[in-house]
Amino acid sequence: MTDPHRLPGEISVPDIGVGTWAWGDRGVWGMGGYDSTLTEATIAEAWEASIDAGATFFDTAEVYGNGESERIIGRLLAADPGRAAKAVIATKFMPVPWKFDVVGSLRRALEASLGRLGVGSVALYQIHGPISLRGHAHLADALAAVHEDGLVGAVGVSNYSAKEMRSIARELAERGIQLATNQIEFSLLRRRPESNGLLAACRELGVLPLAYSPLGQGRLTGKYDAEHPPPKGRSFSNHPMVEVDAIVNTLRELGGAHDRTPSQVALQWIVSKGVVPIPGAKNRLQAEQNAGGMGWSLTEEELTRLDNVALEGTNDLRNRFWQHG
Ligand SMILES: NC(=O)c1ccc[n+]([C@@H]2O[C@H](COP(=O)([O-])OP(=O)(O)OC[C@H]3O[C@@H](n4cnc5c(N)ncnc54)[C@H](OP(=O)(O)O)[C@@H]3O)[C@@H](O)[C@H]2O)c1
Repeated sequence: MTDPHRLPGEISVPDIGVGTWAWGDRGVWGMGGYDSTLTEATIAEAWEASIDAGATFFDTAEVYGNGESERIIGRLLAADPGRAAKAVIATKFMPVPWKFDVVGSLRRALEASLGRLGVGSVALYQIHGPISLRGHAHLADALAAVHEDGLVGAVGVSNYSAKEMRSIARELAERGIQLATNQIEFSLLRRRPESNGLLAACRELGVLPLAYSPLGQGRLTGKYDAEHPPPKGRSFSNHPMVEVDAIVNTLRELGGAHDRTPSQVALQWIVSKGVVPIPGAKNRLQAEQNAGGMGWSLTEEELTRLDNVALEGTNDLRNRFWQHG
């Protein structure tokens, strides 16, 4: 592990984590469907390889595979106490508008998540997106109550703009709690959080940004191109593949100089910005490769080249994230 980040509650997060949306998901990621190579055995190998390589931070959510991602992690934690002791688990509450009693709903959702995970508490509990009809004061009350009871080590948000993040951080601070994280789409295919000041706001508030879809849902790995696009349904980072190909060519060239893969260069660019990417991994090879995105660095000139080819990306998150990730 290199330069671990500290969250409130003395939680240690490495430079790169692991996203587990694909674990148990049928629709977008094809487990039990089009992707016959994705099984609970390959997931167990990804889990082992990640932890052994120092990528000990795992991101899940109550909605991933309708709870199946959390159930799989629960089985892994129970079967492998040695690695379980090193694993740092983050999950999320989906604040759909009809959960009007947000204090009660969040507690019930968290208790259900803890049950599926088979644990008494999680390191980090995140609001999945800014879609609740209740104000930030109510959401902060809900988070503060479960924090107070020791069910969560730290609290975070996801898909929050700088303005929304400042508002809920203020409400939490009034309750004696530091907002720990904001999980956002950030990659070479969506640089917008850097250019619109969101990353700067995170730094100012002491909030650790987590980057989701850091490989552009597989598009930046080099295995897809305009002739062989990724399977349908991957709605984040969904640029025409000809635009993506130009970026992957740069990743290949820079990776060649460091004996690294395009994915590893794409992840290291994110790490260099002080952001923790949480790439999804379906098997041992992907997990090992992704963890190999940390522990080395690109030169200033190489980083500038990547800054120059990065795409700004879309501003429209609200309609997409809660149907999928
Ligand atoms: N908060 C939110 O709203 C939100 C939204 C989206 C995601 N997330 C979180 O962020 C995590 C990561 O995002 P993501 O899964 O959307 O996208 P991603 O990490 O950019 O891409 C993951 C996919 O890329 C492929 N891949 C990964 N590593 C690879 C490697 N080394 N070589 C070749 N292919 C590789 C795999 O799919 P194939 O092998 O099938 O190509 C994998 O499932 C999610 O798991 C979830 O935890 C959160």
